[in-house]
Amino acid sequence: MKKIVLLFSSILMALSLFAAEPTLKYGPWIQKVTDTGFSVLFKTSVDVMAWVEVAPDDGTAFEASVRQPFYQTVAGRRYCGKMHCIDVTGLQPGTTYRYRIYRQKLEDASHNNSVHYGPAKVQWVGKEKTFRMKTFDTAAKSCKFAMVCDIHQRSDLYKSLLSGVKPADYDFLLLNGDIVNASVNIDTSIKYTFQPIINLTANMPVVFVRGNHEGRGMDWKLTPEVFPTTNGQFYYTFREGPVAFLVLDAGEDKPDADVEYSGHAMYDQYRAQELVWLKNAVKDPSFVQAPYKVCLIHIPTINDKGSWYAQKWANENFVPVLNEAGVQLMLSGHHHCYFVREKGACGNDFPIVVNDDEERMDVVIAEGKGIDIRVFNTKGEQVRSLKY
Ligand SMILES: [Fe+2]
Repeated sequence: MKKIVLLFSSILMALSLFAAEPTLKYGPWIQKVTDTGFSVLFKTSVDVMAWVEVAPDDGTAFEASVRQPFYQTVAGRRYCGKMHCIDVTGLQPGTTYRYRIYRQKLEDASHNNSVHYGPAKVQWVGKEKTFRMKTFDTAAKSCKFAMVCDIHQRSDLYKSLLSGVKPADYDFLLLNGDIVNASVNIDTSIKYTFQPIINLTANMPVVFVRGNHEGRGMDWKLTPEVFPTTNGQFYYTFREGPVAFLVLDAGEDKPDADVEYSGHAMYDQYRAQELVWLKNAVKDPSFVQAPYKVCLIHIPTINDKGSWYAQKWANENFVPVLNEAGVQLMLSGHHHCYFVREKGACGNDFPIVVNDDEERMDVVIAEGKGIDIRVFNTKGEQVRSLKY
């Protein structure tokens, strides 16, 4: 009997040790890509100190030499926790790199002067431990990206729409808002936004445009940790190839006083601050000098009879600035159907192209060749095309 109890307790101990081994709960996914760096994000099952090692994609073994480690630090100290965002810097433009995630489990932090970690290990994600990422290149002559929007947690649809996308063929994946219904729980938001397409988000830049639904739910306040941007806002600019992208955020669609917002909404103030930023951002030389200027915003800045409050506000306030700045195209979602408002339809000096919630847009913008938009259904069949 004694032997059985001993055997049983050893099995339990072994199982508990195994269960405590850190795993990657979510990720990795890539944000904040520039010509010289990118950020690797992931969430671990337990507290770990993690780092990312980067190697050129030159055919050598990853283990051929010491690879540069990058740590997440907070005020001079290496971060230890579950939600990780590691900045990789000092890279070359338009260059593909390999990266791996390493981690050490926090074993004992009961003594401030003697914190103990477990052994350092490379973190596998399923059967993979090495991922690839290509930096942006301002000098490139063209830019290609895939855009989806309004997925609303429909993972099978999400996977179908993006099944034809290979990271090596695109510069980035553009999520144009409402990928989730609400940020009720931040883990659920991460799960629905990244896990269904983890083979893409681990290996290609993800550009996030905030939809009004990502602003709902009480974990909304954690959303910026999941989608960090170069200026810490959901309105920001970035450049890839000949295109300067202007990402805007129209906030919620109804007036702040709407009962659905329970007194939380202060989007009038938010949009007013954003407008001040926008007026300066379009004067930045990197924006002014770009051969192409594209605005990305979840709620299109149209002004129809049926338009709701935020849409009308964006039309009246953002559009004059965008016209003056020479924006050549706006890409949006929100309406769950495809339509185009050509130049002049609602005060806009640029076409506004709105994507369907069950279609993917592939956009190629090349110097001297214009803007080429192709739209695909869930079967990967091209259903329409546009040229500007
Ligand atoms: Fe929306």
